[in-house]
Amino acid sequence: MSELQDLALELRRQLAWQESDGTRGLLRSPGPAQPAEKAPAPARRPESAPAPAPVSDATPGAEQTLEQVRAELGACTRCKLCKARKNIVFGVGNPRAELVFVGEGPGEEEDRQGVPFVGAAGQLLTKMIEAMKFSRDSVYICNVVKCRPPGNRNPEPEEIAACEPFLKAQLGVIKPKVIVALGKFASQTLLRDTTPITRMRGQWRSYEGIPLMPTFHPAYLLRSPDEKKKAWLDLQEVMKKFGKK
Ligand code: URA
Repeated sequence: MSELQDLALELRRQLAWQESDGTRGLLRSPGPAQPAEKAPAPARRPESAPAPAPVSDATPGAEQTLEQVRAELGACTRCKLCKARKNIVFGVGNPRAELVFVGEGPGEEEDRQGVPFVGAAGQLLTKMIEAMKFSRDSVYICNVVKCRPPGNRNPEPEEIAACEPFLKAQLGVIKPKVIVALGKFASQTLLRDTTPITRMRGQWRSYEGIPLMPTFHPAYLLRSPDEKKKAWLDLQEVMKKFGKK
């Protein structure tokens, strides 16, 4: 009987995020990350733009730490997103995480708190992580751009290009076993591939030798709950990589 109860509990936990719309008590807003069929401009730096600051080791040849990457980012003014931001949203979680989630960019609540994925989409992401039998603390969560695009607009190619060295540095320090790219900006930036997320999702890819699973962004799933089934299939593929059923 208790085995049956355990099974029921497990099933309920896994289905919780799929059944909830994650917006209870929160205002619904259109939000970012629509999986547009048309790919956005790739995150390519215009020839005229200055090269992003190098993200270098404090000691040549030494292993970098996330603290060093954060220090190098400093009070960043490398792009215009610095003008309206309240806080830089660097990343949160386990610096030795085996699983990293990469989102698009901070929203209003993330900007206010300086922590990624703490708004409505973040609540859904937390449920997704727990449904995968991970805890939020055991993984690492960050974004392509570290400052909020005003009004939750899409990040622009120059903004992505300015921030990308820091995302790459974070992933280089953590060296996760698997990366989950949430939505088109994370997927297209990391993979240098302008294929729409609707076509890219669910297929294993590789980022610098690390298996990467592109899937839908939780903000999109809040607006299109029917798509949660596809996202769950993608996350189950990730679970298999960790030997989780
Ligand atoms: N959406 C994102 O892409 N990142 C966040 O941190 C929050 C919402």
